Amino acid sequence: MVPMTTPRLLCEGLTRRLPSGGHVITVLDDVDLRIEAGEFVAILGPSGSGKSTLLGLLAGLDRPSVGTVQLDGVALERLDEDALALLRREKVGFVFQNFQLLANLTARENILLPMELGGKAGAAARADELLARVGLAERGHHYPSQLSGGEQQRVALARAFGPRPSVLLADEPTGNLDRDTGRNALDLLVDLREAEGTTLVLVTHDPQVAERAGRRVRLEGGRVVEDDGAAGSRGGGMAGDDVAQDVARGTGAAPAP
Ligand SMILES: Nc1ncnc2c1ncn2[C@@H]1O[C@H](COP(=O)(O)OP(=O)(O)O)[C@@H](O)[C@H]1O
Ligand SMILES: [Mg+2]
Repeated sequence: MVPMTTPRLLCEGLTRRLPSGGHVITVLDDVDLRIEAGEFVAILGPSGSGKSTLLGLLAGLDRPSVGTVQLDGVALERLDEDALALLRREKVGFVFQNFQLLANLTARENILLPMELGGKAGAAARADELLARVGLAERGHHYPSQLSGGEQQRVALARAFGPRPSVLLADEPTGNLDRDTGRNALDLLVDLREAEGTTLVLVTHDPQVAERAGRRVRLEGGRVVEDDGAAGSRGGGMAGDDVAQDVARGTGAAPAP
């Protein structure tokens, strides 16, 4: 028997519809996904298949049209914006393709900011430790414009790991970097994840990158068409999920909390 534990992330019936040119398109279509604490999952699929949409929903940055996303057992779609912001600050790290560092803060200040917003103790020491971990110990006082793309992404990695998020979501984090620089940033991401025990969901086009994940989930047209980790250890991911299924079915029609 598979022990009943709360997964780190659970999607049930996750569907996202968006208005597009006078009609409604289904960008994400009835996605079920169960991700355990500590997993490293690569999300693959062609452009437009819904990868970024899925990540936004996992982060609570977007809201499902139907279905549920649960983070450590908490249904995100039931939270108001303030509660979502708090939960993100507490538990979610995000790494973007275009780094998204704040231009008017130094590298070190960028890393410090989420820890300080979260009231984390020891933020200064942690920022210095992470700067060293990403090979930028001497560059903390530099502004993003003074750093190369690869260096900026290393700062963004340090910033994301700073508050010790339980889940890190990375959307094509090496997509704007040349191959060697990208590999470098990715090695760092994988090393940091291992050292910190962070659950990682990584969107990538690079099959070699995906090989390094413990599991590969492929999207096409908003649906999961392949998941090499869903069978076996997860028993198809459906066991004992009656409650979650009810929640998923209820959400579409339920009034806001
Ligand atoms: N805000 C939006 N309004 C309308 N269509 C959108 C919006 N965001 C994404 N889409 C569409 O949803 C589909 C999936 O987008 P996305 O999740 O960004 O795919 P991917 O990250 O796999 O390239 C695409 O067809 C895209 O054009
Ligand atoms: Mg995308």
